Amino acid sequence: MGPRRQWKPLIVQFTNFSRRKEREALEASLPPYVTALDARPPDALAIGNDWTRRLFDGDFYVSPPPDASRPAGSLVFVQSADGNTGAHNPSSLGGGATDKHLIYEGLSRVAADAVMAGAETVRAGNIVLSVWHPELVRLRGSLGLPRHPVQIVVTRRGVALERGMLFNVPEIRVVLLTVQPCRIQMEQALAARPWITALVLDDASGVQDGFERLRGMGIERISCIGGRTLATSLLDAGLVQDVYLTTSPRPGGDPGTPMCSGPLKTEVIARKRGTGGEAGVVFEHLRVTYRSETAS
Ligand SMILES: NC(=O)c1ccc[n+]([C@@H]2O[C@H](COP(=O)([O-])OP(=O)(O)OC[C@H]3O[C@@H](n4cnc5c(N)ncnc54)[C@H](OP(=O)(O)O)[C@@H]3O)[C@@H](O)[C@H]2O)c1
Repeated sequence: MGPRRQWKPLIVQFTNFSRRKEREALEASLPPYVTALDARPPDALAIGNDWTRRLFDGDFYVSPPPDASRPAGSLVFVQSADGNTGAHNPSSLGGGATDKHLIYEGLSRVAADAVMAGAETVRAGNIVLSVWHPELVRLRGSLGLPRHPVQIVVTRRGVALERGMLFNVPEIRVVLLTVQPCRIQMEQALAARPWITALVLDDASGVQDGFERLRGMGIERISCIGGRTLATSLLDAGLVQDVYLTTSPRPGGDPGTPMCSGPLKTEVIARKRGTGGEAGVVFEHLRVTYRSETAS
């Protein structure tokens, strides 16, 4: 069987998925945010078009890469009013449609070369991480970026490459940050999928090395969607500049699942409030100013 024929069912599945995501984004009612605080740092890049500026009430900011050897890194999370991020379906935390379509599947990744997720988050659903609303697709194109960001998955135990849609669309580049035993275990499945690159990390401190190698592959901006285990690793390694955090007006989620473990010092760059049916939602752009002595 030729390779195109072999992957056909999954390509059809992806086509249907893309159409559904676009339809959901177009049909969603998106109450605009209003600005409570806007303190653009001089080095931040401002992104947006008329559509995003109307809904976000201004430009969205992204930090430049910290140096020539590492990509810029950001985290995007929705949390319940009592600070939990764990939930089988994070939309159930109550961040609202504007968070989902404008921030999560929008501004947080529209300028990213790659989107990164922890293996547990990927195992939780049949996903491809991209932008879907035509206005965001256009904005991404205007920034000179390919239609879909590179999909990066961090795993120590391995993921079922045969099952997830994310791993089976030849036009979508995937990078696995993994460890040697896991790479060996996935060898056959990797050989059948030349669009997937496995980068072997040395040890627990390997995400830093992983980031440097990703920059070497031309990846300058990474949007990490979590979960909290991966977010904690990235913050501990000093790889995150921006946190995009939406807080729902109601409590919920899996108890004891904050965005990361340990202290996190940040500065608020922007704060926006939900309106209409999303009154009580708060979006914050936080810049990480301090994590630990090991952070650079
Ligand atoms: N509220 C939100 O915005 C949001 C966002 C994302 C996810 N979630 C939710 O959060 C939950 C999942 O979060 P989670 O913390 O359990 O898992 P996670 O961070 O998604 O994934 C953890 C896994 O990632 C791999 N990993 C993480 N750091 C690593 C490192 N430094 N080196 C090598 N591998 C590393 C390991 O994979 P192996 O297992 O292969 O060893 C680890 O078990 C789900 O309920 C999901 O729906 C919520």
